[in-house]
Amino acid sequence: MPEKSLVRATLQLPCSVVILSAGDGNSQGAMTATAMYVSQVPPLVVVSLSKTFATYQLIEKSKEFAVNVIADNQLDLAKKFGSVHGYEVDKFKEFGIATEPASKVSAPLVSGCFASIECRVKSSLWDVEGNHAIYIGEVVGFKLNEELQPLVWLDNRYFKVGTECRI
Ligand SMILES: Cc1cc2nc3c(=O)[nH]c(=O)nc-3n(C[C@H](O)[C@H](O)[C@H](O)COP(=O)(O)O)c2cc1C
Repeated sequence: MPEKSLVRATLQLPCSVVILSAGDGNSQGAMTATAMYVSQVPPLVVVSLSKTFATYQLIEKSKEFAVNVIADNQLDLAKKFGSVHGYEVDKFKEFGIATEPASKVSAPLVSGCFASIECRVKSSLWDVEGNHAIYIGEVVGFKLNEELQPLVWLDNRYFKVGTECRI
């Protein structure tokens, strides 16, 4: 285990809160995760997930995923999708989560999100320390609801987007 102050330091990096979804045509699944963009031209997004997770198996099969950036009124989704594994339960059915088909990928989109970003895996990295895989996805479709606001994950807690700082 890393020392406590190191854990505390890494937790000070503010992260996005997303539902990372995937489907292989037969089954679908999703987990709470964080994502960031790599570049805008070309549009690339990166996610990192444990190779022991059900969502990893689906991305490995389909080479596609969707990054559903949840809105600040969807905090319950982050807790639900991050609390159980898709091997044990169909989280969409169990929690009654409304979904809609994506335009370009097989991953389901979670309804009512701030944004949904459809990605095809462009490159992957498994040779990382520990148990994680990193996927860089090329954005092939997206939806944005500008009336909503995203959530932020910081210091093991969820925050609404706050006041803009100006000099
Ligand atoms: C706010 C939050 C962020 C998370 N981010 C990640 C992440 O980026 N990568 C990861 O592997 N697990 C992350 N998790 C944990 C997974 O969501 C959790 O283990 C989930 O149950 C895995 O589901 P699955 O086995 O159905 O794929 C996060 C959990 C929470 C609550």
